[in-house]
Amino acid sequence: MSDDKRDEELLRMARRAMELARSPYSGVKVGAVVVAADGQVYPGCNVENASLGLTACAERVALWGAVAHGSADFTTLVLTSNHPKVTTPCGACRQVILELAPRARIIFGDAEGVKHVWASARDLLPDAFEGDWKS
Ligand code: THU
Repeated sequence: MSDDKRDEELLRMARRAMELARSPYSGVKVGAVVVAADGQVYPGCNVENASLGLTACAERVALWGAVAHGSADFTTLVLTSNHPKVTTPCGACRQVILELAPRARIIFGDAEGVKHVWASARDLLPDAFEGDWKS
């Protein structure tokens, strides 16, 4: 299968995840899938809470679920939303993607198909904070 075809298939999976979004406050539905190096695909959707700051974004739900299933190395993260504008990952998600999926391509698509491909989270988060206090 060509990369483009695979990306479109992943985008369809992200759209299915998007339909499961719980977003009674914003009405924005976001879906994501993250692909592990072994080919496993993990879905996520945004899950809102009345205490709005507790909302979890689709990308983080997908990545946390993947980690909880034992995956640690990711090649692709696909994101879509029901909003007419491009949804790029929020700042918090960029930070999490950089740490958990540093080499993953990040793809945004909408109802019409794949729209943007970023080479990695580093493109979305230059000069990132990377826990340098550890050393
Ligand atoms: N949202 C995501 O799921 N991912 C992002 O990267 C941006 C924002 C969700 C959170 C909230 O439920 C809704 O979109 C509106 O901000």
